Amino acid sequence: MAGIRLENVQKRFGSVTVIGGMDLSIHDGEFFTFVGPSGCGKSTILNMLAGLESVSGGAIYFDDVAVTDLSPRERDVAMVFQSYALYPHMTVYDNMAFPLRMRKNERSRIESEVTRAASMLGLAELLERKPRELSGGQRQRVALGRALVRSPKVFLMDEPLSNLDARLRLETRGELKRLHKQLGTTTVYVTHDQAEALSLSDRIAVLDRGDIRQVGTPREVYSDPANTFVAGFMGSPSMNFVPAVVKRKEPLTVECNGLVLSPAVKRVPEEDGVLVGVRPEDISVSKRVNDEGITVSVLLVEPAGPFHWVDVAWGPAVLRGMAEAQEDLAPGDRARMAFRSDQTLLFEAASGLRV
Ligand SMILES: Nc1ncnc2c1ncn2[C@@H]1O[C@H](COP(=O)(O)OP(=O)(O)OP(=O)(O)O)[C@@H](O)[C@H]1O
Ligand SMILES: [Mg+2]
Repeated sequence: MAGIRLENVQKRFGSVTVIGGMDLSIHDGEFFTFVGPSGCGKSTILNMLAGLESVSGGAIYFDDVAVTDLSPRERDVAMVFQSYALYPHMTVYDNMAFPLRMRKNERSRIESEVTRAASMLGLAELLERKPRELSGGQRQRVALGRALVRSPKVFLMDEPLSNLDARLRLETRGELKRLHKQLGTTTVYVTHDQAEALSLSDRIAVLDRGDIRQVGTPREVYSDPANTFVAGFMGSPSMNFVPAVVKRKEPLTVECNGLVLSPAVKRVPEEDGVLVGVRPEDISVSKRVNDEGITVSVLLVEPAGPFHWVDVAWGPAVLRGMAEAQEDLAPGDRARMAFRSDQTLLFEAASGLRV
């Protein structure tokens, strides 16, 4: 096992800078996830950690040993990719044994390692099958097994679940979490799926065009986001942002669509233009007439099973909130919207920084 340190790691493809200079420590034994939209540089970072891609500047350390110039093999990492890339003519057993044979391990060791990994992954009954005789989920488990048999220092996983259908993805996600608990091997995971990142990780780095916008535990990046990018990216549906103006600094008071709010802040905003952020799950929309809430008009109703997501127009702003399923809301209805002031976050409009 190993901790990983990136020191001012840069990556350029020709004249295009993909990673400008990244500093980061990943702890020994941690499940660490890079999450961000397509093209933000997740795979590039993972490939540099693996040694599949050279760095354009800076250094990478595994346990204080510089590995920047080492080959993938010398780094002792095992990588799992989105496409499982199994050898189609080999059995499950041979696919899993392959990395050990490449390293000239003894036959008895290979057998015990493959058996161990296969039983961990529920593949013991399938060892004689060929990949084409397996479901997608089983194939992905073989790919995981092939990484497991090596007992590497570090697991590197690039969207390993994205080829699976929704149900299998959830199941395999649970499997991955259990395996990590059991083995405790440092794992660096890449995904564009914020829910996957939140559910699997000890810590998460949220990436935006090659920059880390925040590093933290799932709770920190979700409940205590550092900026509008992180607040908007983590959580689905996305956080609502409504423009507002600072009216008073002590105590802080803002006016938002005619409504006066006193959100809790850590510092006074440096600008008068701010954004009030509220998560859709913190907004309730209802037809019931009461004194609470703000009058809105319903634009869209999206049933989600136990409840509905509802888009409403509040003056010039459009917000998404939740309504109970038995509320018979339809587009065009007038309704009341309520959220608690202490469930709002405040951001500077120009910088996007949380205050
Ligand atoms: N070999 C290359 N040559 C030039 N540009 C590249 C190369 N590889 C990647 N890039 C660019 O670097 C950026 C980051 O790519 P990368 O594959 O790391 O993104 P990603 O976050 O993994 O995206 P995705 O979620 O779509 O897999 C992209 O803009 C991509 O076009
Ligand atoms: Mg990628």
